[in-house]
Amino acid sequence: MSGIESVLQENRLFPPSPATVSAATISGQAAYDALCAEAEKDYAGYWARLARENLLWQKPFTQTLDESNAPFFKWFADGELNVSYNCLERNLQNGNADKVAIIFESDGGEVNKVTYRQLYEKVCQLANGIKSLGYQKGERAIIYMPMSVEAICAMHACARLGLTHSVVFGGFSAKSLQERIVDAHATLVICADEQVRGGKNIPLKPAVEEAFAMGGCEHVRKVIVYQRTGGKVNWDANRDVWMHELAANQATDCAPTWVDAEHPLFILYTSGSTGKPKGVQHSSAGYLLHAMLTMKWTFDIQPNDVFWCTADVGWVTGHTYIAYGPLAVGATQIVFEGIPTYPHSGRFWEMIAKHKASIFYTAPTAIRSLIKASESTPASHPRNYDLSSLRLMGSVGEPINPEAWMWYYENVGGKRCPIVDTWWQTETGGHMITPLPGVHGLKPGSCTMPFPGIAAAIVDETGNDVEKGKGGFLVIKKPWPSMIRAIWGDPERFVKSYYPADFNGKYYLAGDGANRDLDGYFWIMGRIDDVLNVSGHRLGTMEIESALVANPLVAEAAVVGRPDDLTGEAVVAFVVLKQSRPNAEEGQKIAKELREWVGKEIGPIAKPKEIRFGENLPKTRSGKIMRRLLRDLAKGAEITQDISTLENPAILDQLKVAQ
Ligand code: WT7
Repeated sequence: MSGIESVLQENRLFPPSPATVSAATISGQAAYDALCAEAEKDYAGYWARLARENLLWQKPFTQTLDESNAPFFKWFADGELNVSYNCLERNLQNGNADKVAIIFESDGGEVNKVTYRQLYEKVCQLANGIKSLGYQKGERAIIYMPMSVEAICAMHACARLGLTHSVVFGGFSAKSLQERIVDAHATLVICADEQVRGGKNIPLKPAVEEAFAMGGCEHVRKVIVYQRTGGKVNWDANRDVWMHELAANQATDCAPTWVDAEHPLFILYTSGSTGKPKGVQHSSAGYLLHAMLTMKWTFDIQPNDVFWCTADVGWVTGHTYIAYGPLAVGATQIVFEGIPTYPHSGRFWEMIAKHKASIFYTAPTAIRSLIKASESTPASHPRNYDLSSLRLMGSVGEPINPEAWMWYYENVGGKRCPIVDTWWQTETGGHMITPLPGVHGLKPGSCTMPFPGIAAAIVDETGNDVEKGKGGFLVIKKPWPSMIRAIWGDPERFVKSYYPADFNGKYYLAGDGANRDLDGYFWIMGRIDDVLNVSGHRLGTMEIESALVANPLVAEAAVVGRPDDLTGEAVVAFVVLKQSRPNAEEGQKIAKELREWVGKEIGPIAKPKEIRFGENLPKTRSGKIMRRLLRDLAKGAEITQDISTLENPAILDQLKVAQ
């Protein structure tokens, strides 16, 4: 990652203001220490207390942590509850019925406010409609929808009925969609006719049809379609149902289906180090507990806050900090359909001012692109907007470089708003290492300290703790309630990926390298496996390589990451064609074709930024691709490493430059 050297020399410290400390839910170091000590003394008892205090149980649990089949841990296993009930009925019962749950703003700027009661009724009507189609607890539903109240309703309708949902980001291709439908063995698909982004209508339903045409989706009985734009769509009257027609005339109450604490609430696919994305399976109770705790402690949510997480529900951040966390704690939140740069790059600041957002949670890549935009278009600079409603800001998805942190702190937060730099993953369900605003002094670029109860540590290859100031593997030493429960359909891969034998199978291996400074602050160094982080999105290098070699022109491909000022990392592909190495002009044409191809195979986010062609790839005599060398070539660094084992040194000259 860029900026690592500067990160390690970062020694600015921003302590919380006395006012922030005294107003915060977790107020002061002693309060944090007390929670950590409680967890240390009686780990299960600590989580049991929090689960009893925060969740509404239909049947209380008596067992807290079941380690009998480690690393397949179970939490609160004999308890029963319903996640949607915890998010909706809770608010009807505690006086929030007429409180605005969602302030929705469309790409074009229309605003629609939905109260908790209205949201409850919408979810119930949709759930009743889904039930009327014959769906039952235990089935899987794929949700392929734009940011909308309806997408959140679809997730909750599933949760209410005990269907396990798997949201597929609307930017993924038909092929990716098909793979997920097949892998999850989904029987229901909920999609929209089209989505709207940056003033453009982008079809979604046709991708569903394309996915079906690829085969293997015969188990899907119905497709429920949310009419977003009214664009023309093909229609199969036996299979397709309009969401508004299905929900109309349904009762506005729908009794929740009670499920076990461990019932899979959702599966979310994410990239790993092999070609096939992993279906990360989450639980109901443990997941929701952590979503609530982090809303309360990290975001310090208060009754009058207006919370805004800019993620898409297609990612885990949009699950935990849009669809579930904010609702479970009765917050008012903004849900945004559009993009930060349309119709102008002051859109985020304009929306904060307009809706009086008090908590703002976004990604470093968005901040970096808005810094750049504000330099070229001064009118979009945050100083032109009244951002005085903000009191707390967050960052997620990748390490934030100290320069971007400072800009965010000064120009958006007016030097008054703490920034919570939250380290976590799809697999962890919620924040794992993060400052609590009323406790920790902030260092730009550091995610600071473990969330109370989370046993985060940095170890060497043998599993021993490294000394402070040294780098190593980031691990979590104890199971925690919101952790991944399984990789859908692949228990072996779960154990291999997260509980490898290297550490006696005892520690959860995050896949990140990290460092702890002398004050004990955590600094994340980025992935140590073959996973790239492009604009806060995870991409497997192997996944992109498989997509490239599936193209009839390609003989061999290797993909690496290169530091990028805007996107954190950028994808660089080294390609050997079946035909001879192309000249510059031809190379450009083929590169364009291959980029489109990857967009179709995976999705536009995976398109290589650069493609270089060689007659071969640099390999050792045993035929292994020298990826470290490719990484140096990709960033234009001088090759300093030993290339004596390299079979074909002449190849390096061909791969040095982009075509
Ligand atoms: C990977 C997880 C967490 C939800 C969004 C991404 C990187 C995430 C931070 C942070 C440094 C971070 C890690 C992690 N990452 N947050 N605050 N500082 N790195 O979820 O797609 O599962 O990716 O994102 O490398 O392993 P994800």
